[in-house]
Amino acid sequence: MLIFSSLKIFLQAEKSLYLYSMIDKLIVAIDGPASSGKSTTAKLLAEKLGYLYIDTGAMYRAITLLAIRNKILDNEEEIIKLAKEIDIQLKFDKGQTTVFVDGVDVSEEIRSMEVSNHVSPVSKIEEVRKIMVQKQRMLGKNGGVVMEGRDITTVVFPEADLKIFLTATIHERAKRRVKEYQSKGIEIDFEQVVENINERDRIDSSREVSPLKKSEEAIEIDTSYLTIDEQVDLILEKVNELLSTRK
Ligand code: DC
Repeated sequence: MLIFSSLKIFLQAEKSLYLYSMIDKLIVAIDGPASSGKSTTAKLLAEKLGYLYIDTGAMYRAITLLAIRNKILDNEEEIIKLAKEIDIQLKFDKGQTTVFVDGVDVSEEIRSMEVSNHVSPVSKIEEVRKIMVQKQRMLGKNGGVVMEGRDITTVVFPEADLKIFLTATIHERAKRRVKEYQSKGIEIDFEQVVENINERDRIDSSREVSPLKKSEEAIEIDTSYLTIDEQVDLILEKVNELLSTRK
């Protein structure tokens, strides 16, 4: 009792989000279209909170990469079989996610333009989604997690403590994607990136199963004219508000 009350006083004095989160581990769910700033924001947020960061897009990308390698992109049954068998591990350390498929690091390959061009049709397959959603729920069920994707606020964790929907203009999103490629030494045509993002948005938002859409309770943040720090601070403020009501 004495320990508990002194801890509470300490928390009030420090207002440390990290210490709050040791007591109340939240599920923070973030959705939004391609390149809306989800990964960068979610990663930084997770780091600041001492939470786990889960990039669900990386899971769909990993299956797509293997489907390309195995030349089974046009065979739904084979892709479903692959989704059941594949061992995907996400390691989050010092703000970096490493993606392992069957023990092999595929973090770079899953970001290639080829994977980006094929990932939406693969992630449209109902059975594939069921398998992935089950894995994602397992990973986040104990809280202390920032999970981002397209259906986290609506399907994976509709009861998440905090639901965020990030958006940005298509021009801004394509600019970010081009910059990301350039930072890896890859030159890519701006119009080609616009086309890929528009096409993925179209498929992701219009598919029958778990389409990308803003949940009614989600807080919408347009990141077009915000810096990364501003985006993260806005969400941290919401986390802080939530945690202070639960003290
Ligand atoms: O976030 P990303 O661009 O890496 O995601 C790649 C693709 O995966 C995206 O075009 C749609 C799909 N996806 C999905 O359908 N559901 C999720 N929860 C995450 C990603």
